[in-house]
Amino acid sequence: MNLLITLPVVVAGVIYLIRKQREYTWGWVKNNSSLKDKVFIITGANCGLGFQTAKALAKRGATVVLACRDLIKANEAIANIKLEVTDAKLTALPLDLEVFDSIKSFCRDISREFPQFDCIINNAGLSIKTPFETDEGIEVHVAANHLGHFLMVNLLLDLIKKNNARVVIVSSNLHEKGKINLENFWKLVDTKHPKQLYANSKLMNSYFAKELYKKGIDVHVCSPGLCYTDLYRDYNIKFYHLIAFSPVILLFLRSAEQGAQSIIYCATDNENDEEKNPNNSYIVRDLRQSKSKIKLDDDISDKLWKESMRLCKLD
Ligand SMILES: NC(=O)c1ccc[n+]([C@@H]2O[C@H](COP(=O)([O-])OP(=O)(O)OC[C@H]3O[C@@H](n4cnc5c(N)ncnc54)[C@H](OP(=O)(O)O)[C@@H]3O)[C@@H](O)[C@H]2O)c1
Repeated sequence: MNLLITLPVVVAGVIYLIRKQREYTWGWVKNNSSLKDKVFIITGANCGLGFQTAKALAKRGATVVLACRDLIKANEAIANIKLEVTDAKLTALPLDLEVFDSIKSFCRDISREFPQFDCIINNAGLSIKTPFETDEGIEVHVAANHLGHFLMVNLLLDLIKKNNARVVIVSSNLHEKGKINLENFWKLVDTKHPKQLYANSKLMNSYFAKELYKKGIDVHVCSPGLCYTDLYRDYNIKFYHLIAFSPVILLFLRSAEQGAQSIIYCATDNENDEEKNPNNSYIVRDLRQSKSKIKLDDDISDKLWKESMRLCKLD
């Protein structure tokens, strides 16, 4: 009887301690310096990691532009942040990364309303169980996770250079499983492995950063880790899945607030000097520069940039 009570208590205690130790290694941004007079643009800031990042930056006095495809959700997010940060300086602007016209219109809005921004955070992203091609004929993970941000950053490139603004790219550890077929990476060829399409698009994030760095942009790439957000909403996760995966959840799943720390760190703290981050080839994980398992290929990088330019009709 004693053992029946003691054993679960001991197991729960050990799990709790391991969890706390892991949370400690994931890290929290300690810098609380004022960001007054700084302007941050965050894509997909109405929920999840983008929302937590917007809130944290607003708390430090920054002006934050929430670039979202649904303005109702964006304004709800603003109202929620204002419950905690009453004097928060927040603006919602419409941006659908799957639609070229929406991206162009968004960039015109930014040029008119916030021409002097300090940082753009490419955070918006999706992972879809039943992938499709957008109206522009682009596989949806490529459209929202790569090409939409590619077009947006390129349309704002002159302002980014003029402002010496920072670009933060929210990638994922899954980029290490990504593959890029330069012949048809934008087409929906394989509908059976949607998670592979997500991983591929996240690898494109790393290549995009590599090329921006070569062009002299202050670009930072991070992986937030596995976080409790709406990212997998399309997978219709049931409670029994959560039970089956409870060991993974207990050991690896971060809150959205904790996951946002790497993004906030990249936007406000991280420095990309050659010694810490040779050729900008590292990715920030747990608030530290960390080497990726994959080596980015120069040829793929160059060709992916050129093909992305062509698809966005930027050449
Ligand atoms: N959660 C994780 O475990 C995890 C791990 C590694 C990397 N990440 C990355 O973290 C980033 C943020 O994801 P999250 O976890 O916070 O997921 P989330 O809660 O689902 O938030 C994603 C955000 O992106 C927006 N979005 C999606 N498609 C868009 C489009 N076409 N145009 C404009 N906005 C769009 C969503 O808007 P709607 O609400 O309108 O759909 C939402 O605001 C993503 O880039 C994701 O790949 C997440």
